[in-house]
Amino acid sequence: MFSKEVYIRRRAELAGRLSAQLPSGKAGVVIFIGNAEAPQNYRGNDYKFRQESSFLYYWGIDEPGFAALMDLDSGDEVIYGDDVEIGDIIWMGPQPSVESRAAAVGAGKSAGSAEFDKAVATARSQGRTVHFLPASRYYNVLRTASLTGCSPDSVRKTASVSDGQVHASLELVKAVISMRLIKEECEIEEIDKACGIGYLMHTEARRSCKPGVCEQEIVGRMEGVTISKGWGVSFTTILSQHGETLHNHKHDGIIAPGRLLLVDAGAESNSHYASDFTRTIPCGGKFSPKQRDVYDIVVACNDLAYDLARPGVTYRDVHLAVAARMLDGLRSLDIVRGDVQDMVSEGIAGMFMPHGLGHNMGIDVHDMEDLGEDLVGYDPDQTRSSQLGLGSLRMARRLMPGHVITDEPGIYFVPALIAKWKREGTGKGFINYGKLEEEYLDFGGIRLEDDLLITADGCRRLGAQRLPIYADEVEDVMSGE
Ligand code: GLY
Ligand code: MN
Repeated sequence: MFSKEVYIRRRAELAGRLSAQLPSGKAGVVIFIGNAEAPQNYRGNDYKFRQESSFLYYWGIDEPGFAALMDLDSGDEVIYGDDVEIGDIIWMGPQPSVESRAAAVGAGKSAGSAEFDKAVATARSQGRTVHFLPASRYYNVLRTASLTGCSPDSVRKTASVSDGQVHASLELVKAVISMRLIKEECEIEEIDKACGIGYLMHTEARRSCKPGVCEQEIVGRMEGVTISKGWGVSFTTILSQHGETLHNHKHDGIIAPGRLLLVDAGAESNSHYASDFTRTIPCGGKFSPKQRDVYDIVVACNDLAYDLARPGVTYRDVHLAVAARMLDGLRSLDIVRGDVQDMVSEGIAGMFMPHGLGHNMGIDVHDMEDLGEDLVGYDPDQTRSSQLGLGSLRMARRLMPGHVITDEPGIYFVPALIAKWKREGTGKGFINYGKLEEEYLDFGGIRLEDDLLITADGCRRLGAQRLPIYADEVEDVMSGE
């Protein structure tokens, strides 16, 4: 938790940004519903608790069962929760009072949970606007629906409060995004910490990658690092010799020399900030010439994004420059043929990189995507492409100092996609299907991911050290492990 001044300042800023968009004296109330315990089956056997990210950002309390209300017209801020009784203390031990928790984050008032329901009902009965964020977990969806009287479907949709219907508040969503997108110094410190743990996780994975070892064992060792040094993983670990499956969560393969192992894994610090790194390593410690050729193109793409990322440039343009660099490299291997810019326009890069170059990162590894992917990742004058690859770009915005984004180009050979495009005639004349079918169907995939902070005049890689990335460097370090 940060100092209480951080939360007081954030809430004042939020109230100011929101009120500026709303009629004076009739701004309404903002409600925040923190996460509750989620039982795996019976009550008491819960999944590991993780607080709702915006609740954490504005109210700091990292415990289940809390809610909060900001009255934009009176300025009141109230934390709601229930003090423990002896029945709880026997199982949980003594807990700080709700009043002391509210004081620790600078909220002026506290009350029991039942008072929250009453406060929302009163606001509604007075015809006041109740602003809320789109809920993602089912508990929060149902709780928000019951408090606001609208359907569970509607509480997940975002619309302007001026449309008169009850939805998540577009004005609130925009104000929250505008704040959380630009990271504060204290947040950057936390992300640097998460990257430090991520570095150790990937080092452990690389050292554990030995012929005959089961992928699952590597996952276990790597996740042990982040559990012992931070909160845990920032997303479900992706680790597979079938890196062509973008989010491969199957870890039953046995490490085989000659294959490539793709490891996409991140840590969450104890204060819940994320890291997200990907490395692809040769299972026998040495890249084959064919692997190295493709690998070097992905390294060049990663470096290019780092070189281009700076304030004023859109990340969409960086994605497109990376697509051009990738196609140029693939052309040198005779995998594609033709004019690079023509291929970029035709969306040929999507065959090899069917995802975007990166996403925002912060308290969530895909920061705030629960608030709306396009609202988070696109400026108002940008529209999302329908092309494969570019259409999956989650962060397209014009970059600003304080943005934290991932730089994660990849090249994948997806047999089903190759077959589909060939059958449909997509990329005909550009893609050398004969070569792909003869030489690359069992190649797998390569992704290389670093985390970037946009600075005043460029960017810096987060974390104290960059994970080994150049092919010689990776082989060198693996030969000594
Ligand atoms: N690291 C997983 C992702 O970015 O989707
Ligand atoms: Mn990522």
